[in-house]
Amino acid sequence: MKGLKKLLGLTLGAMMTISLVGCSSGSNEGEGTVEKLQQIKDAGVLVVGTSADYAPYEFHKQIDGEDKIVGFDITMAEEIAKDLGVKVEYKDMDFDGLLGALEAEKVDIVLSGMTPDEERKKSVDFSELFYEDSNVCIVKKGKEDSIKSEDDLKKLKVGVQSGTTQADFITGDLGITDAKQLKRMPDLMLDLQNGNIDVIVTGKNVANINIGQYDGLAIGKTTVGKEVAESTAAAIKKSNEKVDNTSLVESINNTIKRLKDENKMDEYMQEALKLAEK
Ligand code: ARG
Repeated sequence: MKGLKKLLGLTLGAMMTISLVGCSSGSNEGEGTVEKLQQIKDAGVLVVGTSADYAPYEFHKQIDGEDKIVGFDITMAEEIAKDLGVKVEYKDMDFDGLLGALEAEKVDIVLSGMTPDEERKKSVDFSELFYEDSNVCIVKKGKEDSIKSEDDLKKLKVGVQSGTTQADFITGDLGITDAKQLKRMPDLMLDLQNGNIDVIVTGKNVANINIGQYDGLAIGKTTVGKEVAESTAAAIKKSNEKVDNTSLVESINNTIKRLKDENKMDEYMQEALKLAEK
């Protein structure tokens, strides 16, 4: 008798779990399609992929003796997660591995100072833009005038982070085939300090923080590429027959709209810049 009761209990329990799981993906269109948003809510955590080498957007900092990932995109991640009612977990990796991680569903979204360009849009979806900046050159102090036009870059040893829009611009648009491409920003900075390269092309905010942290470097006088070439949005895996991302993209865009309406973007960037300078 006891055994039967136990068995019944177990079966009931199992049935309830099944119906609960059924409910959570209930609002889906096609048979077997899950909503990414609901999946994240069920898990209670938003997994964010980032390359935390890009202050003020995302970087490591010791806070109360603990290593933390902080920055402008990290505040964005927190706000997006807050609106979803979930926690955030970060996966720090090389920038050129982020879209692969998104594709393989190792992360739910990418927040990494990532610029939505046409090439990337073919394989992933992007939220609305939430920050715009330009690209500049970092050079050795005293060499600020060495690059008067983009063409001057062709005569110099250029360094860029691999997989970035800056790398694309230098190798593609300018056809500089011998540019040095490194996976992490700090390695580029050291190479410039040591004279292994002459110039790094990167975002203006990033350049400003780095010249404060690496001695003997300065920002060159030319902007590189279009005026707002360094724009930022969240990347999300495209919907397919198994996973529907529509409501997730909508939710992220609602958070972005809320923060823009509240005039928060500049405030968050100022906070991130201060945090990065200290
Ligand atoms: N905005 C550039 C891009 O999308 C560079 C971003 C680099 N980000 C980073 N976290 N290192 O390619």
